[in-house]
Amino acid sequence: MKILVVGSGGREHALAWKIGRSAKVEKIYCAPGNAGMQGIAECVDISATDIDGLLAFAVAEKIDLTVVGPESSLVKGIVDAFEARNLRIFGPSQRAAILEGSKVFTKEFLIKYGIPTASFKAFRKIKEAKKYLQTCSLPLVVKADGLAAGKGVIVAATMKEAMDAVDLIMKDNAFGAAGDTIIIEDCLVGEEASFLAFTDGKTIRALPTSQDHKAIFDGDKGPNTGGMGAYSPAPVVTPAMTEYVIDKILQPTVEGMAAEGRPYKGILYAGLMIDGDKINVLEFNCRFGDPEAQPLLMRIESDIVEVFEACIDGTLDQVEIRVDPRPTVCVVMASAGYPGAYATGKVIKGLKKAAQLEGVEVFHAGTRRVGGRVVTSGGRVLGITAIGADLAEAIARAYHGVDRIQFPGCYFRRDIGGKALKRMAGAGNRALVGNVMGSDSDLPVMQVAADLLD
Ligand code: AMP
Ligand code: GLY
Repeated sequence: MKILVVGSGGREHALAWKIGRSAKVEKIYCAPGNAGMQGIAECVDISATDIDGLLAFAVAEKIDLTVVGPESSLVKGIVDAFEARNLRIFGPSQRAAILEGSKVFTKEFLIKYGIPTASFKAFRKIKEAKKYLQTCSLPLVVKADGLAAGKGVIVAATMKEAMDAVDLIMKDNAFGAAGDTIIIEDCLVGEEASFLAFTDGKTIRALPTSQDHKAIFDGDKGPNTGGMGAYSPAPVVTPAMTEYVIDKILQPTVEGMAAEGRPYKGILYAGLMIDGDKINVLEFNCRFGDPEAQPLLMRIESDIVEVFEACIDGTLDQVEIRVDPRPTVCVVMASAGYPGAYATGKVIKGLKKAAQLEGVEVFHAGTRRVGGRVVTSGGRVLGITAIGADLAEAIARAYHGVDRIQFPGCYFRRDIGGKALKRMAGAGNRALVGNVMGSDSDLPVMQVAADLLD
């Protein structure tokens, strides 16, 4: 089969890597791809949102299956355009991708189908939004309705921050038309987790649990990013919770979308807030998470192309997702300044040395090739992803990979996976923490473990 992967981030590199392991695949194309994907696929210079261009390419090259990474392409209707030309493509239609494309739609949908989420109100006028704010207790959350590249959510601790957030979205139009409507919602507390599942519109097959690290700094401090690292499984999600999420969140969502005339197939990604045994939906995404895809795809043993095809054909009930029980961790290496302004064009060294480490994969995100060199070209540059016999080993391996790579202005969090170690140590699993302590590193994640042993 000839497969086209749409996108250019770490998620898409991991998708191309996993697709390349399928016995069914002869050739992979990526549009537009990155320097890492060039090693395993042919990259074609078509933007992920140039649907006409992608369609013309897929027709000309007789692509058998297209797999879409980013939400922007899905919300723009890439699946509908391909299906209209009888091309096979994995992902939700435009009508179904609204679950990520409009937060107002999703909040109203969640309430209608009795799925737990924070209470909210939607506003189209600044004056009304501000008047309502004055009646609210703090903290609260202000959100742009539409896609805003992960930046359209502001958690406001003070009334001034909340008012400023309304101005930023509605007056300064920081996110363009995505901010024509806003949501003001209650602030939830707890620990976040990512819960992804494949669906063909009827059957749901959950992927393993995972957790992202959205904030830029260690200890979950600073502004939110697209994600600075992730690991799987996430012990905050217990097996009982997994059952609850499938039965009370994902199943009613898939059934509800069908009832709304918006049948949903593809990846359904629920962003969850877990507080004790209370679970609320923060958001839905209509695609793989980035960086969650990197550790998740490393754990999936099944032929991923068969799973994609089953989602398209409505035969997911006949497919089992086999999962490697060993945990995986992805540490994102970013350009200094991200998620704000950052420089690009910095030469990256040590990529081969890192990739030689046992159990380590170096997934590229913002990279490109200039002459014989690989240089930075984005905020998130690489995702060093590792598998280990236990979480401690996976963390140690990922950071050993990070240690071998350098580029000017490189920044990464040093505590990826620390929260899971802490939780497991709290549950009495001190041997595991001992393994991290023995890994001879001064990373804060090890400090988290050390504090627990005191
Ligand atoms: P969303 O795009 O809705 O997932 O929001 C992005 C991030 O903002 C989430 O991952 C949370 O960290 C935070 N967030 C969103 N909604 C809430 C909420 N109601 N309470 C607390 N934090 C939230
Ligand atoms: N890592 C969060 C997301 O992909 O939305």
